[in-house]
Amino acid sequence: DSAPVVTIDGPSGTGKGTLANLLARELGWHYLDSGALYRAVGWAAIQAGIPLEAAHAEELGTLARNLEIRFQPEAEGPVRTFIGKQEVTQELRSGPVSEAASIVASMKPVRDGLLDLQRRFREPPGLVADGRDMGTVVFPEAPAKVFLTATPEERARRRYEQLRGQGCDVSLERITQELRQRDERDTHRNVAPLRPSEGAYVIDTTDISIEEVVAETLRRVRQSL
Ligand code: C5P
Repeated sequence: DSAPVVTIDGPSGTGKGTLANLLARELGWHYLDSGALYRAVGWAAIQAGIPLEAAHAEELGTLARNLEIRFQPEAEGPVRTFIGKQEVTQELRSGPVSEAASIVASMKPVRDGLLDLQRRFREPPGLVADGRDMGTVVFPEAPAKVFLTATPEERARRRYEQLRGQGCDVSLERITQELRQRDERDTHRNVAPLRPSEGAYVIDTTDISIEEVVAETLRRVRQSL
């Protein structure tokens, strides 16, 4: 498939999701939230009672390969996510599922199991793909690649505000600790570790507004198409 792809990678709390969504809307392109796929595998593993351990990696890989996930965009508010017939939009954002997602994401069979599914999102007129390895592994030939960073303190603060806004009762301390743990795991795993792809345009979003990030990225994307 030759539809163009823009990859947006980086750790959580850098504004990746917001940027990818706005960009997809602006360009009229499809949107892939790859993190939601890893979250879905984590959720399904918990439901099925499969231990999140290396000894069960193949079983978890099979779960990933057979994942029946569906995204349903709404006119207002966030995209709704279904696994089979069950709506899991809220549950996928919970602490335990975030943790499970980052554990299964370190397993090669799981990553391999999600590859085809991710690549099927690439359809005309184009795709904005959001994740950790969109530019390095899933769409290495993408014409435009962005990598977002921000200080850990700022990322934790954003995540905290976001969860608070959704009515979750969380502490900043706990969020900071969870974020640090996930960063550590995502950056140091053997398969598809989090890092900027060669040729990626790196933007530090700590002190700039999301509007500026969107404008700058759009300019880059239009140049590269
Ligand atoms: O982006 P989000 O926080 O929803 O991702 C959840 C987890 O899924 C991350 O902590 C990371 O471990 C994993 N992930 C990944 N590769 C991606 C997207 C997410 O390993 N492309």
